[in-house]
Amino acid sequence: MKKITIAIDGHSSCGKSTMAKDLASAIGYIYIDSGAMYRCCTLFAMRNGLIAADGTIDEAEFERRMPEIQVSFKINSQTGRPDTYLNGACVEQEIRSMEVSAHVSPVAALPFVRAAMTAQQQAMGREGGIVMDGRDIGTAVFPDAEMKVFVTASDEIRAQRRYDELMAKGQEADFNEVLANLRERDRIDSTREVAPLRKADDALVLDNSHMTIPEQNQWLLDRFHEKISD
Ligand code: DC
Repeated sequence: MKKITIAIDGHSSCGKSTMAKDLASAIGYIYIDSGAMYRCCTLFAMRNGLIAADGTIDEAEFERRMPEIQVSFKINSQTGRPDTYLNGACVEQEIRSMEVSAHVSPVAALPFVRAAMTAQQQAMGREGGIVMDGRDIGTAVFPDAEMKVFVTASDEIRAQRRYDELMAKGQEADFNEVLANLRERDRIDSTREVAPLRKADDALVLDNSHMTIPEQNQWLLDRFHEKISD
C-alpha cells in the first residue's frame, strides 16, 4: 500500500509531538519533530556566541555558519522514541530547556534558517511514509501532503502541559513564565514573514483541550484510515 505524508501543525505545547509519535509508531511510519530542528539551530547559535544576552542575533555570522548545522534523529533503544542529534551529538535534553525555548522563535523566523531546515525536512520526507509535526508542514514543507491536521488547545491548558513536562524532567519552571513564553512564541510564529503558523485550507482541525491522549490518538487513527481508503 502506498505510504502517504502526514503533516501535523499547530500552536506550541498542544501535544502535537506526542500524537505524531504515537500515530507514526501505530502505523509504522517515520516520525520527524521539525521543532527540534529549529531548537538545534538555536542551541548551535547559543553555544557559538551568536545570540547576545539581550537576545540580539548576529545574523551575518549565523548565516555564514548555517552549513555547519546537521540535524538527525536516532531511536533511543530505552525509550523507543527518537532522540535529536546535532552534528552527531545527542542534544535531546538541552534543546528542551527554557533558555532554548526563550530564543527559538526569533531564530525560526530567520529566512536563511527556514530555508536550510525546510530543505533538510523535504529530503527526509521524499519517500513518504512520514509523520512530521511543526508550524508550516502542511503549508510550506509538504503543501501536497495527503493528510493535514491543525491542532490547538486553550493557552492555559497548553501552559499546564508544558509546565508538567518540565517538572517531570526535574527542570526549574514557573507557570506564569511558561504561559508568557508560550504566548510570545505563538505571536512570533504567527506573525513572521516567512511561512507563518496558519491552518492550511485543506487541514482537519483538532481542538484537544478536553481530550485524553487515547482519545486524540483514536481520532487521528480514524482520520488516517479514512484518508487511505479514499
Ligand atoms: O514545536 P516546538 O515548540 O518544539 O517548536 C520550537 C519553535 O520552532 C517554535 O517557536 C516554532 C518553531 N517552528 C517553526 O517555526 N516551524 C516548524 N515547522 C516547527 C517549529
